[in-house]
Amino acid sequence: MAKRELVLGLAGLGTVGSGLARILHDRAAAIEARTGRAVRIKTILVRDPAKPRPVEIPGASIVTDASALIDDPEIDVVVELIGGTTAAYDLVHAALSAGKHVVTANKALLAERGVPLFRLAGEKGLHLAHEASVAGGIPIIETLKESLAANRIEKIMGILNGTANYILTRMTEAGLGFDAALAEAQARGYAEADPTLDVEGGDTAHKLVLLIRLAFGRSYPMARLPVWGVSQVSPMDIAHAAEFGYTIKLIAQAREVGGKIEAGVYPALIPAHYLLASVNGSFNAVRIEGDAVGQVMLYGRGAGDMPTGSAVAADVMAIARGRAANNTGFVTQDLPEADILDLDEAVSCHYLRFLVPDRTGVLRDLSGVMADHGISLEQVVQKKWDGPGVQLVFFTHECPAGAVHAAMRAIEAQRDLTLAPIMHYRIL
Ligand SMILES: NC(=O)c1ccc[n+]([C@@H]2O[C@H](COP(=O)([O-])OP(=O)(O)OC[C@H]3O[C@@H](n4cnc5c(N)ncnc54)[C@H](OP(=O)(O)O)[C@@H]3O)[C@@H](O)[C@H]2O)c1
Repeated sequence: MAKRELVLGLAGLGTVGSGLARILHDRAAAIEARTGRAVRIKTILVRDPAKPRPVEIPGASIVTDASALIDDPEIDVVVELIGGTTAAYDLVHAALSAGKHVVTANKALLAERGVPLFRLAGEKGLHLAHEASVAGGIPIIETLKESLAANRIEKIMGILNGTANYILTRMTEAGLGFDAALAEAQARGYAEADPTLDVEGGDTAHKLVLLIRLAFGRSYPMARLPVWGVSQVSPMDIAHAAEFGYTIKLIAQAREVGGKIEAGVYPALIPAHYLLASVNGSFNAVRIEGDAVGQVMLYGRGAGDMPTGSAVAADVMAIARGRAANNTGFVTQDLPEADILDLDEAVSCHYLRFLVPDRTGVLRDLSGVMADHGISLEQVVQKKWDGPGVQLVFFTHECPAGAVHAAMRAIEAQRDLTLAPIMHYRIL
């Protein structure tokens, strides 16, 4: 029989650690009523023990040496909220090796170095619970692993980074350029001082790799995931897209095509009537298509102390209830590697914007290159603009991305055909 108390070693008392501590304190009675056990934080690992903390955790000792968690036989669960992929890897590996369950919110760790950790947890029959690692407070991990387990998941599309989404929302609503929108996000605390991981798509990519594991039962190497961010998105393309009924969002997408996984992170045009198009500001959302259930949409706060703390606390409660560990959602915890569909083979419609010289025949020349690459055009629009040359926007019919890339290279190789780099987005 499980002992009455579940004892935690908490690694990290920053944003998420503080949120978790607050929830475990404020909702202690409800947590016990739901799990039958009291949850106690015994030891807290930090870098700087002198730092003032926003929460008090009575009775807990603050340490700076991870062995105080690993070597303590009373600690049942190590909650890893330090972030990063080095010290966190060592900590999680050591905790599992010592027979302790682990709860983590660390998407970078699991996406980049998760395979041996899931394998080790599987061998030991331990939890490596990670609900908070994707989309903060949104229960997407549990939804894929349990609630939709009977479905063949056909497609996942998500807005998984609140910073990038806030920036695109402000560019769309207020016509701001990227730099101004980023500065505003930083001023409001929605973006880090170094926003690279958020705005260049890396954070979204980590989350997508974790969703692919759960949805398709495949391990997808991070290094092979095509990733673009939002720093090159121009307000002009946002405005043109809106005119034709589309919104530009940073989309994480994965789908199964003929047994292969087509996946990527990129800014894309999505129809303005999609629910995803109205996910604004710092919110996250995930749309899942299952063969039996149809479409399911989850929406909520993808970050923050309390939303993320809520997801971490739910994992702790699942362990307190004594639920069997099932970290991947499959019997095997050592998932096979995905057979990857090259992005060039991925079929969709495309948006292209050219700045071309104002001369006779230029449209014919551009269309000719597109036709040479087997690309048929749905719409061609000439846009007014104050600068030199002429702006042309092409909306294509469905074609492989590789054909579009080859046509772009051919056009850019002809010096007299374009005055600026071609802007290109997929339409999803
Ligand atoms: N913030 C969010 O909204 C959010 C949402 C979803 C997931 N996550 C994930 O949750 C994790 C924690 O994020 P956070 O925002 O809470 O981070 P944070 O505010 O920077 O807090 C990190 C905490 O870990 C401690 N720490 C860092 N490195 C350490 C080391 N090597 N040894 C011991 N302690 C160490 C820090 O100690 P000091 O306080 O002494 O510096 C601090 O208490 C990350 O993996 C992040 O990706 C965060």
